[in-house]
Amino acid sequence: MEETNTALNTMDDYNRRQFIRTSLPGFLGLTLALPSIASLATRANACNGRLAKDATINWDAFLSEVDKVAKTQHLDHWIEEAYIQQVVQLSKRLNLKDPALLKGFENCKRGIGNGRVDFEDLEKNRDFAVCLLQFEKGEFIPPHDHPGMTGVIQCATGKISVQNYDMLGVREGHETFLFKKSADTVMKKGEVSSLTSKARNIHTLKAHSLTQLVDVFAPPYDPQRAAKSSWFSIDTDPFEGKKDIFEAAFR
Ligand SMILES: [Fe+2]
Repeated sequence: MEETNTALNTMDDYNRRQFIRTSLPGFLGLTLALPSIASLATRANACNGRLAKDATINWDAFLSEVDKVAKTQHLDHWIEEAYIQQVVQLSKRLNLKDPALLKGFENCKRGIGNGRVDFEDLEKNRDFAVCLLQFEKGEFIPPHDHPGMTGVIQCATGKISVQNYDMLGVREGHETFLFKKSADTVMKKGEVSSLTSKARNIHTLKAHSLTQLVDVFAPPYDPQRAAKSSWFSIDTDPFEGKKDIFEAAFR
């Protein structure tokens, strides 16, 4: 019995020593990491009174703040335009040279020369998604809608034309729609375009030069939302000469 206890004690000592030996590097690593973890938390919470309201924010703080405001979509009476304005203001404060963004844009550059718009997902969670888009000169995304979604699109580099439309309804007696052009802009670095589920929900984009965008969509795309989205072709001339009204059809 005593022999057994001795063996167990020896085993305990051995395990304890092993534990100390194996966990020490981990402990030291944690100690060394603590300042950076604390710094990350500080950066992530940069908006909690630590920085002026119009101060530049880094990627962590941007995600943290968008996460807070995107949760408002679960309220009974979500005011999408108010939410959009909050994200527009956050986007304008985002440091476009943050390493996380620069790395994403570098990844996008692998697509240069492939003849299509490139996408790079940076964040996706239950409430919102952030995606980088890269267009080469002349590349475009045809008119499409985003049913039940909101979007804030910021130009990080380049120059791009963006037209937004509101769906007026089905043209009576025809299988076509009438759209009202609700925005027509050329976005340059730092400028922002937006859409809600009701306003400016249909858009088309065409780049004048190599252009990179930061898109924030809430709620995020999922298979159901992607399946509901439609592509359109829009007449170049106004419908029956009416200003900003255009006839459109499914592509
Ligand atoms: Fe879109």
